[in-house]
Order: sequence, then C-alpha cells, then structure tokens
Amino acid sequence: MRNPTSSSSLSFVPATDGRKPQAAAAAPLSEFGREMRAGLARSPRSISPKFFYDAAGSQLFDRICELPEYYPTRTELRILGECAGEIAGQIGPNAEIVEFGAGSLTKVRLLLDALETPRRYLPIDISGEHLEAAAERLRADYPDLVVQPIAADYTMPLVLPAPMAGAGRRVGFFPGSTIGNFEPDEALAFLQLAARMLRGGGLLIGVDLVKDPGRLHAAYNDAQGVTAEFNLNLLRRANAELDAGFDLDGFSHAAFYNAPRRRIEMHLVSRRAQSVRLDGQDFAFEEGETIHTEYSHKFTVEGLRALALRAGFRPGAVWTDPERLFSVHWLAA
Ligand code: AVJ
Repeated sequence: MRNPTSSSSLSFVPATDGRKPQAAAAAPLSEFGREMRAGLARSPRSISPKFFYDAAGSQLFDRICELPEYYPTRTELRILGECAGEIAGQIGPNAEIVEFGAGSLTKVRLLLDALETPRRYLPIDISGEHLEAAAERLRADYPDLVVQPIAADYTMPLVLPAPMAGAGRRVGFFPGSTIGNFEPDEALAFLQLAARMLRGGGLLIGVDLVKDPGRLHAAYNDAQGVTAEFNLNLLRRANAELDAGFDLDGFSHAAFYNAPRRRIEMHLVSRRAQSVRLDGQDFAFEEGETIHTEYSHKFTVEGLRALALRAGFRPGAVWTDPERLFSVHWLAA
C-alpha cells in the first residue's frame, strides 16, 4: 500500500500497480516457493501434499479427523486402543520408538501407555519448532521416557543416535496411512530405508484399506466442505508466504477415487481461464486445468504385506476393525 503521507506529486514514486515493489519479489524463495514455482511450470501441474501443513492447514486437518465421513483417524485410534496389549507384546520391554512425520501425540500415547517401560521416543519431523513444543508436553506426562526430537525429512536417509544402554527393540511408528501419500515407487523406497534403519526391530504402520468407492469418495468430499478448505488453503498459503496472486474463488476442490490405481486423487481446478503471478512470472490456466495436490493410496492387507516383503521386512501380525476399514501392521525388520 502507498504511504498516505508521501506526496504523490513527487516524480520518483515508482508505479506499483498495487503490487509490492520488486525488492520483495526478488527475495530468495523458500522451499515451498521453489516447489510451487516448479510445480506450476510442469505439465500436468502438481505440488507435494507436505505443504498442506502450515498452522492453518494443520488445524484444518485436525477438523477433518473429527468429520463423520472421515473414518481413518478414529478407526486407527480404535484399533490402537483395543489391540494395544497385543501390540505391546509384539514390541517387548524397553523399546525405543521412532515416529516418522508430525507425531500425533494421541496416537503415540496409546502405544506408550501399553508398552512395558518404553525407554526413548524419537519423533522425526521437518518442523523443528512444532516438534520441540510437543516434546515438552510429552516429557511432562512421561517423566521416565527420554524424548529426543529430530528435525529432519524422514524420506531422506538419516543416522539415528546409537541405542541407549539396555534398550530393547527399535520400533518405527508410521500411523495415519501417510504412506498412501507416496507414489508406489516412493512407498517402496521409504520402506526400504525404514527396514535398514530399524534392523533388529520393526515397523508399526497404519494403512487405509481398499473399500466401497462411495465411502472413500465421501471421506474426501465432506458435507461441511472442510476438505475443500484444506485443499484450497495451499493457495491461501502461497498468497500469504510467497505473495502469489491466486484468486481463491477462481479454483475449486476436486477429489475422486481412481479405482484402477486404488487411490484418491485431490486437485485444485481452475474455474475459468486466468493467469496467476508467482515470483515475477505469469502462469496461464485454461478453464478446467488442474493442480494435482495429493494422492491417498488405499491398500489391501495382502498388497501391503507383499510391498513390505519386497522392502526387506518380514510381515507379522495385522490388526483391523470389524468393518475392515483400516489396518495396523507389525513388520519385523
Ligand atoms: C494424512 C495423508 C493420511 O490421505 O487421508 C485427509 C490427508 N487429505 N483428507 C489422507 C488428507 C484429505 C490424509 N493423510
């Protein structure tokens, strides 16, 4: 905005046509900015779902988990709660838990409460700040547990600290069917990495199951429109963080089940021909052109076990709910 106290009769006031001056646009782009720019430049357009989770996006995701249509979270929590004793028996005493991705503290707590003297909890997440605050709350509730957050991208190889003296199994925890976000080759690569990292221990992984397409469709097209808000928040975030020029009314949420590929696909669809400016570049959209924002792959129990076997795990016990909506797998490494 122009400074109202400056005199517009001075001839050195640059024409801004309402946008920020060049100096702001020339600032180096963040990782989000670089990936957004690259995602808009390629065809078909796409952006990684990892960018959904800014503060507003994380809050919207929490609301998704409460929706009547979104069964995965509550079903997984129910399985973890009801089968915690058996799961703890599989894992054994003095375990070290390594959680991949934003540790939903509710989920790991169910595990910690059932385990016999868990020794250490190592949550890995890119967002270090968020992680430290969550770790502090956990320490308060589990005074005997060593909580050691690791700020890192868990899809990259990383060296874990050496096991503590007297520690039991090293167990990976990957709940929420986040593995469904990966492309099939990426899912295999992640499991291979995890198998190497957890050798001698195992991986406890939550996986959403193939089911009636109507039910899947509803879970990603909720009546209240929270999932639509979650999807569109990516553009809101780009406007706020990158000074991008997305018109939020110019795009709509689309999610559908691709049955042959066994995945939900989420897109943002341009509702008209329009042009969007990012980092000094204009990106033209035709009416109906999309930005792909997420895959959420669904698995069969056997399919997940076969994938785990290929990655170097020995698939063990599987826990599901009575409707077989969701599954939790023990994979020995
Ligand atoms: C957190 C990746 C498991 O795929 O169901 C929820 C994210 N996207 N609604 C999922 C999500 C739309 C969620 N995961």
